[in-house]
Amino acid sequence: MKKIVLLGPPGCGKGTQSKLLVEKNNFVQLSTGDLLRLETSNSDSDLGKKVKYLMESGELVPDGIVIDIIVNKVEKHKNKSIVFDGFPRNLKQAEVLDSSLENVSVKLDHVILFQIDFKILEERINNRISETKGSEQRKDDNSETLLNRIEVFKSSTLPIVKYYEEKGIISKIDGMQKVNEVYAEITKIIC
Ligand code: AP5
Repeated sequence: MKKIVLLGPPGCGKGTQSKLLVEKNNFVQLSTGDLLRLETSNSDSDLGKKVKYLMESGELVPDGIVIDIIVNKVEKHKNKSIVFDGFPRNLKQAEVLDSSLENVSVKLDHVILFQIDFKILEERINNRISETKGSEQRKDDNSETLLNRIEVFKSSTLPIVKYYEEKGIISKIDGMQKVNEVYAEITKIIC
């Protein structure tokens, strides 16, 4: 049973590839973005409102909140193949992921970094906006917030590449290819 992380900037294709791994390879997808959107969708609490605000402005949600969500799920799905989509996003989260996997006697097998020209991300996000309707549209899918999400990725998330390079488990893939070509690269790495 594999445990893998998909790492890359907003719109690079993490969610798209995770869904293919679920459909074709029996993975469980743990997307912190999806889980946070679900948890806050009907929340009128102060905490829920704060999380929504941070997500809508493209900032990271505090580690404590995200870590609580993910640690429970790791325990629940420890005997299955898991794709972590959007987690970890900083060094603290990467360390917590390692220790929570260790606690259930499993380890991370692969971290897959999507290499992509940041200039095409806006086009990808615009495509997603045109594909989704009304209330399904994400509030963080707009040019201004996208720019901030990219900056947050560069400052908080990219530094964890070194952490995984030192562990020798990171592979870099070309995220500019067609969806099926990216998927083929991923399956070559994990199989
Ligand atoms: P999250 O939901 O994780 O969003 P994200 O990382 O910004 O990524 P996206 O979902 O926008 O893009 P994606 O890479 O999944 O691309 P997709 O496959 O959809 O996070 C949202 C927010 O939640 C964060 O900003 C933060 O506030 C909070 N959060 C989440 N996790 C957190 C954490 N761990 N800690 C703290 N805060 C956290 O593809 C995009 C579009 O491109 C689609 O239309 C798709 O059809 C298309 N596409 C995909 N692949 C290709 C391809 N190869 N060629 C052409 N088009 C493609």
